[in-house]
Amino acid sequence: MKFPEHFLWGAASAAYQVEGAYNTDGKGPSIWDEFSKIPGKTKHNTNGQIAVDFYHHYKEDIVLMAEMGLKAYRFSVSWSRILPNGEGEVNQEGLDFYEKVIDELQKHQIEPILTLYHWDLPEVLQTKYGGWESRHTIDAFVEYCRILFDKFGTKVKYWITFNEQNVFTSLGYRWASHPPNVSDSKRMFQANHIVNLANAKAIQLFHQVVPQGKIGPSFGYGEVYPLTSSPADVLAAVDANQFNNDWWLDVYCRGEYLERIMRLLKQMHIAPDVTIEDKKVLQTGKPDFLGINYYHGGTVKAPDTEKVITGKNFDKIDPYLMAGDAQSNTPESQLFQSVENPYLDKTNWGWEIDPIGFRIALRQVYEKYRLPLIITENGLGAFDKLEGGQVDDQYRIDYLNDHLVQVGKAISDGVPVFGFCAWSFTDLLSWINGYDKRYGFVYIDRDDYSPKSLLRIKKKSFNWYQRIIETNGGKL
Ligand code: BG6
Repeated sequence: MKFPEHFLWGAASAAYQVEGAYNTDGKGPSIWDEFSKIPGKTKHNTNGQIAVDFYHHYKEDIVLMAEMGLKAYRFSVSWSRILPNGEGEVNQEGLDFYEKVIDELQKHQIEPILTLYHWDLPEVLQTKYGGWESRHTIDAFVEYCRILFDKFGTKVKYWITFNEQNVFTSLGYRWASHPPNVSDSKRMFQANHIVNLANAKAIQLFHQVVPQGKIGPSFGYGEVYPLTSSPADVLAAVDANQFNNDWWLDVYCRGEYLERIMRLLKQMHIAPDVTIEDKKVLQTGKPDFLGINYYHGGTVKAPDTEKVITGKNFDKIDPYLMAGDAQSNTPESQLFQSVENPYLDKTNWGWEIDPIGFRIALRQVYEKYRLPLIITENGLGAFDKLEGGQVDDQYRIDYLNDHLVQVGKAISDGVPVFGFCAWSFTDLLSWINGYDKRYGFVYIDRDDYSPKSLLRIKKKSFNWYQRIIETNGGKL
């Protein structure tokens, strides 16, 4: 398999999922620090207070990244570590921490890819202003970004604005399974609009302050297939792709909302309030590239009255299938009904495994938006077993191998993909699934109940990825 020269072979993480040190060196609380205190919201009431303690282990982890030969590391900055109150006074120790991480990565020739927002809004902005439902949060976000652009603009080339806006707004404001624990479609579409404005304004500022850098959002993309060739099912799939994907990507890349979906939301009285000024803002902040997080897509048929997947059991909540209940008055229930795909196997958590869907996704996104792409997440959550000091995660190797082959094919098809960040480098906290849903190349000795030794142990997949990087994909 042929990959471009200087391809960014990477891995990714997020602050809340790895750092721990939740109240150390002046860090303020985030909405996840508070949400995880609500009994029953997360598996075994797990939280990120200690996580895998990257805050104190970053040097050791970066040495392992260097040993692996990693070319890029995507991490997120915790906003409330920089601004404990979300705005106002800067916490110098927070900035110092990320500076040390960036310097350490660069010392080992690893390109830092910095995510500005991976879901951990400062709690104060939530309680005082209403979080992403308030335009005040746009200004606070842009000021937070300005601090990071000024500080790291000369060191960091690649920046991600928002991680999976589609997922965090839906899970947080529609399905009440993430903070702020709201279940209200109107509020979700309004919060989503506020995030769109924050995204555009941050990008606009970035282009002024860091003209030599590149910036874009990371979107959770999944292609939706029709169950059959019946035209009604095909139409349902077209609608589902528009509802799940283009609704967001059009705003990022074209600066406007998809008319067909906007009309539907208006009919249902759940459309966001978009002013003339807002429309101008959305036109001004277009990304330089798109980050794609790919786990899987979905399959749909024309809606009928049967029950569809609702994702009530938090173990099985699937952020990429935002299907509603056919009996309820959701926009999806008028457009499509999610069904199982008879051709695909599933992970331990019921996520479909669909490598070819990855090639389709990359082709579709590129053909529509003509921007360079970087894979900012792809990986397998599995129950790993530590036996005799080793973890034989051949299933993860198979999964990543199959997905990377499809990325290689998409590149041969002409899609400009410039990097691949596996999710994730070490094991980490899966937001609501605890510590048993492991994704890393490096096993962390901890579980849902205790941080144990936090020892880092290389899995079999570590050596496999090392070899892939060494041969620039030649061994796939
Ligand atoms: C993405 C997120 O949705 O998927 C990550 O950006 C997350 O933060 C990953 O961990 C896997 O999801 P989960 O629910 O298995 O942790």
